[in-house]
Amino acid sequence: MSWEKFTKHYLTLPELDFALDISRIDFGDGFLAEMEPKMQEAYKAMADLEAGAIANPDENRMVGHYWLRDASLAPEPELTTEIEKCLADIRQIATKVHSGELAGAKGKFKNCLVIGIGGSALGPQFVADALGNPDRDKMQLHFFDNTDPDGIDRTLATLDGELGETLAVVISKSGGTPETRNGMLEAQAAYKSAGVDFAKHAIAITGAGSKLDKVAESEGWLTRLPMWDWVGGRTSELAAVGLLPAALQGLKIDRMLAGAAAMDAATRSTETTKNPAALLALMWYYATEGKGAKDMVVLPYKDRLMLFSKYLQQLVMESLGKEFDLDGNTVNQGIAVYGNKGSTDQHAYVQQLREGVHNFFVTFIEVLKDREGDSIEVEDGITTGDFLQGFYLGTRDALYENGRQSITITISEVTAEAVGQLIALFERAVGFYASLVNINAYHQPGVEAGKKAAASVLGIESKIISLLREKAGERLNTVTIAQHLGLESQTEIIFKLLNRLAANQRGIIAEDKFSTPETQFYYE
Ligand code: PA5
Repeated sequence: MSWEKFTKHYLTLPELDFALDISRIDFGDGFLAEMEPKMQEAYKAMADLEAGAIANPDENRMVGHYWLRDASLAPEPELTTEIEKCLADIRQIATKVHSGELAGAKGKFKNCLVIGIGGSALGPQFVADALGNPDRDKMQLHFFDNTDPDGIDRTLATLDGELGETLAVVISKSGGTPETRNGMLEAQAAYKSAGVDFAKHAIAITGAGSKLDKVAESEGWLTRLPMWDWVGGRTSELAAVGLLPAALQGLKIDRMLAGAAAMDAATRSTETTKNPAALLALMWYYATEGKGAKDMVVLPYKDRLMLFSKYLQQLVMESLGKEFDLDGNTVNQGIAVYGNKGSTDQHAYVQQLREGVHNFFVTFIEVLKDREGDSIEVEDGITTGDFLQGFYLGTRDALYENGRQSITITISEVTAEAVGQLIALFERAVGFYASLVNINAYHQPGVEAGKKAAASVLGIESKIISLLREKAGERLNTVTIAQHLGLESQTEIIFKLLNRLAANQRGIIAEDKFSTPETQFYYE
């Protein structure tokens, strides 16, 4: 890597304490010029989106997450007012909670139990971990982000005896997501058995008129905050979804918003070599041949950014992983994203990255500031932070020597502004990339398909239980049960359901300790 090539492809935005290095992606001299007409179309599509166009045609919706950090950009004055009111409400709730004016049955709220999934959990989890300091935070955040009973129990165990000081924030844009509904019901049951009135400890963030909205209203929850149909789940970190938990934790939400707004301004540039989101999208296009031919490994060398990889996994894969393009052609687009943190991952899968199957490119994130305060020397003149950077630089070079390409994002430190910037940067890069490959980044038909399939499985489970109850004591194997139900095509699903029912004290007994396809089941 020559100094000339590095400086040619190193974009610095000093006012944002931010730099992007694309010099280790081996695009040729003509690539940017060749892509420029498509990039100009992407800028135009993005400008239309920000001006309120129906950028999510399948759902007939506007896409307005950029307005959240500059409400004056919203295309209708009512939207500006709603965004500003929501922000004022968030600040007011946090102030009242911190002062104790809004308190739980057992006193000041010290915990916040966030109940949500996907876009209604990953952003809050990432930000809480990136910016939190347990000794300084005003509240401790806990999450139900699944319908795993044991996972729920583990979280409840950490709140044992403290539910009267725990504020539950139930988040669901649609208000009908089963995992979140179940989490809410489990929380309600736990509060009840602790003798605490859930409604007086709960806030809902959801779409107006949704099932959750109606429950919260009819049960008299503390308050409700809006989720607008023009904000997608995975781009809702800077809506109430992310801002309320962050504000409750005591994080500087205004600084997060300011960071995002600053990155938004920088990434509105139509001068491609100065626009980091455009350059990212173009590098993704080059590295993956515009069809997801390579995976993106996200490697932040900073523990605080570990959940960023998980957050990006959803943002990128749910947005770009699409069967059809905007013209209805089958394209099966997407970019697979995975990663945790360096240098830890060097002792896990980086061996394969360097020497194994060559099916990825890396996005390194380098953070310049090591820690608050001084560091000891672990070797003569050398600190642990020196090692961390050494491992990043060493890995990057070791990969490049073997033809493995990478991008590096450099930030000064993990501040609220920087987190806002990173979120805004990748949101816009995803939007640009979607334009380059002509797909709708803002819908998620695959997620909906999964939800429908689960509902049909639960319907079969109810039928099995009814049948075995009717035939109480009678021993039947899976095939016979499927025949009785007229569901022969679902025999495997029926076996899987019986297998689990028998393991969970649901009245269905398996003759064998661990069921096989021949096992007989009966109701007792
Ligand atoms: O990004 C998305 O749209 C999804 O991941 C949703 O956030 C997720 O399915 C949860 O949906 P909801 O917020 O409606 O409960």
